[in-house]
Amino acid sequence: MTYVRNCWYVAAWDSELAQGQPMAMQIVGERIVLWRGDDAAIHALEDRCVHRLAPLSLGRCEGANLRCMYHGLLFGPDGGVLEIPGQDKVPPQAKVRAYPVAVRHSWVWVWMGDPAQADEALIPPAVGYDDGRFILGHGHLDYAAEARLICDNLLDFSHLTYVHAASFQAGPTFAERLPEITPLDRGVRFSRWSQNVPNIRDPNSAERFDNYMTYDFLLPGVLLMESASFTAGTAASLDFGPPDFDTAIAGRNFTSQAVTPLTEGTARYFFNWGPHRDHGDEAMRDGMMQLAAMAFGEDKVMIEAQSRVIAGSPGQAIMPIAHDRGVTLFNRLVERLVREEGRAGT
Ligand code: FES
Ligand SMILES: [Fe+2]
Repeated sequence: MTYVRNCWYVAAWDSELAQGQPMAMQIVGERIVLWRGDDAAIHALEDRCVHRLAPLSLGRCEGANLRCMYHGLLFGPDGGVLEIPGQDKVPPQAKVRAYPVAVRHSWVWVWMGDPAQADEALIPPAVGYDDGRFILGHGHLDYAAEARLICDNLLDFSHLTYVHAASFQAGPTFAERLPEITPLDRGVRFSRWSQNVPNIRDPNSAERFDNYMTYDFLLPGVLLMESASFTAGTAASLDFGPPDFDTAIAGRNFTSQAVTPLTEGTARYFFNWGPHRDHGDEAMRDGMMQLAAMAFGEDKVMIEAQSRVIAGSPGQAIMPIAHDRGVTLFNRLVERLVREEGRAGT
């Protein structure tokens, strides 16, 4: 799998990890067990007991520690064995790999690379459901397709016109006009003004808006998007530059999404979405989540079908088009970092 390892990957929503209940997860092909100890801290270890390789995710939490429930070895959060029933000595090799964990923006992030390089400053600045400015619903969707195909999808919104004709009713603009694209150190920024558009929230209104949307797609596969409606004429008055979202007059909303590679051919897609507190309420959030469920279902049908065709076409080249610029920029960034990690031996 061509994925950067020195990155924070989303392993779960914070709320998915109940105290005392270990959870199995796979990230870039590695089996991991996560648990929340009685110290409330979340820990992550290789999900494979050092004794006879049973999954520690079938284990029992004891304080901050985790006991393998096959023959009872007790592991500390650092992966070291603390106890072996029936013997006094714990050999020095009695240890499994421990992964750095951080909880930010309502997500549990796991660092899959060299632990010495785990830098929390590299966690993408997502907006979680713990952020009081927005009213966000959240969920996840499992894919029978590799993560890269989902990232490619999120890096090219021209598909909105076709894949999401039924759900988002995006119209021809997304396909006909290219977004503004800016390369970032750890990703790509996309932004787009749509001028003088009718008020879709009130079809009887003659009011027109300039709509702005912008998103960053960041390593390893995190999309952070904000959009809103502004007074008609705002785009031209800003020379099509970015607006101050605090001057939005309607429809301000945020979505954070993360694509986590599980195995070679499977991925988990985490998402939240909802209105800014000044522009919506819980009912609007619920409506948006229903729309998201429909739209993300549309993506899943297309991407899983694409994945099956790719699996049956080994070595078949693709043919990039103008809308692939963001996809290409991001994939080149991934390839460069993977090469550098290979050279550094991480
Ligand atoms: S396999 Fe874990 S204690 Fe035996
Ligand atoms: Fe989509």
